[in-house]
Parts: sequence; C-alpha cells; structure tokens
Amino acid sequence: MLSINLSNKVAVVTGVSSGIGAGVAQVLSQAGCHVAGCALSPENDEGALAFVKSVEANGQQAYYQYTDVTMPDQITSFIEQVVKVFGRIDIVISNAGANVFKGAEKCTDEEWLQNINLNLTSHWHLGRVCKPWLEKSEKGVFEVMASNHAYASIPGCFPYNVTKTALTGLVRALAIEWGPSVRVVGIAPGFIETPGNDKWFASFADSNAERQRTIALHPAGKLGSTKEIGGWCAFLASDFAAFATGTTYLIDGGRSALLQDE
Ligand code: NAI
Repeated sequence: MLSINLSNKVAVVTGVSSGIGAGVAQVLSQAGCHVAGCALSPENDEGALAFVKSVEANGQQAYYQYTDVTMPDQITSFIEQVVKVFGRIDIVISNAGANVFKGAEKCTDEEWLQNINLNLTSHWHLGRVCKPWLEKSEKGVFEVMASNHAYASIPGCFPYNVTKTALTGLVRALAIEWGPSVRVVGIAPGFIETPGNDKWFASFADSNAERQRTIALHPAGKLGSTKEIGGWCAFLASDFAAFATGTTYLIDGGRSALLQDE
C-alpha cells in the first residue's frame, strides 16, 4: 500500500495551539514525524497541551515552547531548544499568522508594520535560523503558509492580502537560493474550518445561513479541514514531492475557479 512515510523525521510547526497548525502537527505525527511546536499560548494552556497530546497519541515525541515569531531572539531560542531535544530538523512548517484586516483607507502605519512583521518577516526569520539544519537533513523542506488572499481578495482585507502575496515571492526567492539542498514551497489555503472562521460565522444573525451561502461558493461543496491542509504539508515534505519547489499551491475547494457574479 502506498503511504506517506516521514518516520524518524523531525518537523517544526509554528502556531500549533489552534486551527491549521494543530491539524498539521497531528497529520505530520501520523506520518511518523516527531513534532516541535510553538505558539503564543503558554506551555500549560489548553491549545499547547492539546498539541502535545495529539502528537504523543500517534506514538511520536512532542516539544512545545511559547514563542512570539515576531521576536527574532525568541525564534532563535526555540530552534536552539528543538535541536537540543531532537538533534536535527528535517521539515519546517512556517504557519503562525493572523488576519490583519484593516482596509487601505484605515490602516495605520503601526498596523501595517505589525502585519509585515507577523505575516511576512517572521517567515523569513524562521527559515533563516532553520536553514543550516535543513541543509544537514539533505532532504530539508521549508513550507510557508500563505493564503488564497495571495491571489484574489476581498475589499477590507488589506494589508493581510499584501503580505500573503509577498510570501509567494519569498517562496520563489528562497527556493532558487537554497536549492538543491532545501526545497521551499508555499501552501495557500482557502476557507478552512478553524476557530477563527467559526467566530466569523457566529457574528451573523443567521450563522447557519451564512455558512451554507459560503459553502455554495465552493465547487468542492464544503469548506476545507485543517487535516486536509496537514495532508498537503505531509505530501509536500515527502519524497513524492521531490520535484516541487519554488511554487505555492492553492487549495481552495475550487472557489477561485468560480466567477462570483450572481
Ligand atoms: P488560528 O488563529 O486558529 O491559529 C494561529 C496560531 O498561530 C495560534 O497557535 C497562535 O498562537 C499562533 N500565533 C499567532 N501569532 C503568533 C506569533 N506572533 N508568534 C507565534 N505564534 C503566533 O489561525 P489559523 O486560521 O489556523 O491560521 C494559521 C495560518 O493559516 C495563518 O498564517 C493564516 O493566515 C493561514 N490561513 C488560514 C486560513 C483559514 O481559513 N483559517 C486560510 C488561509 C490561510
């Protein structure tokens, strides 16, 4: 039987205490990885504990450290600890991020900079610190979580959409400089079932009607799951994807294929 086998590999995943990062960590551990995760949650927080439990439930070793990825010294300290614990890094999923939806009219310089720091610069900083370890791995993979907003967006999603677009450039730029020893790929998820999107639906008077309206915009007939994004991360980290680098993969349930003119 064909399966994705990442046994004995060590994966670093940022933003594991919630949403997509939690799903990615779970799937990577199912594929055989030990997983080191970080997020803004304290070590004893529900999300951090759930991450450790989900990795260990798959028989793999977990390590968690509170880390603000916008602080370069905290990234360095996290990766130093990861190497102390596991001795190697093979896969990095640079996922931590947040919606910064301000609109171009209202966005302040401070908000612009916060967004650039979190949704663009932090990915480069993480990659930079991990690169020597990914090179040592010989099959190192650096995966960056972009968004469907990198390609088409909605008024009001500025400046988030600007940084997600820039991440596709980061992926190309790093891939051509870090290859062949390190592959660099982007993943651009569309609408994924996450706590943040649940809150979004809950903000409507008829949340179920809004959910059904949103689902109808997707030819796949559903929203995405965090595990499906985890599946892509696992596949792109595997030997099956050895020819994939310098590209960002749009996984949006077909939403961008459908002209929204009704
Ligand atoms: P979430 O809000 O559920 O989880 C975000 C995670 O990142 C949390 O663990 C949080 O602690 C961590 N985080 C946030 N700021 C951080 C910082 N400064 N340092 C360290 N960790 C930090 O978010 P979600 O929805 O799972 O999003 C994850 C990534 O996926 C983001 O980059 C987001 O832009 C992207 N994405 C999400 C989509 C969705 O539909 N949920 C669609 C497209 C992209």
